[in-house]
Amino acid sequence: MKIVLFASGGGSNVKAILQAIQSKALDATVSCLVCNVETAGVIEVAKQFNIEVLVIPNKGLSREAHEAEILNQLQFYSWDFWVLAGYMRLFTEKLVKKINQPSYKIINIHPSLLPDFKGVNAYQQAFEAGVEESGCTVHFVNEYLDDGPIIAQASFKRLPNDTLETFMARGLQLEHTLYPKVLEHISKGKVTVLEPALPC
Ligand code: GRF
Repeated sequence: MKIVLFASGGGSNVKAILQAIQSKALDATVSCLVCNVETAGVIEVAKQFNIEVLVIPNKGLSREAHEAEILNQLQFYSWDFWVLAGYMRLFTEKLVKKINQPSYKIINIHPSLLPDFKGVNAYQQAFEAGVEESGCTVHFVNEYLDDGPIIAQASFKRLPNDTLETFMARGLQLEHTLYPKVLEHISKGKVTVLEPALPC
């Protein structure tokens, strides 16, 4: 399975995926990393693993123009899936539908037990809502925000003396285990979407 990674931040999920590949827990090849933030820590992470990085800043560009640039640069790489790992930018409906042909090709990890707490700062949303349990979700991406078929979820309990920081750290740690495992299942063809065919 060949993947393109997309990230905007510190890159701890990217690191977990690259470590899983290195240790052969995940049978995948990374074609390149697409990063939309010039100063993101994930760029250094990718370099440490000798992964090619396409820095494609979105600043000053419309969503459409940014996506056109991504597609333009990605034409030189082959891939089976786009793997979003802390990529903090929404794709347009047009792009999602184009990439998801003839089947779902974009995978994302979201820091909540979807469908709860969509959008940004999901651990914080859950923490402030006083949940007893939170978690993370790996799902295929459709045209809606943090939507699309759920592939797997992992949960953790809120502890009595949790602060937002300890709560988030436990969630992130869980993401690092869940995401590579799910990708390995996908690479082995073990994930099937039981849904009607995708609309064009
Ligand atoms: C993760 O919690 C991810 O689920 C969310 O943003 C965070 C990114 O962390 N979308 P990192 O860049 O992988 O460390």
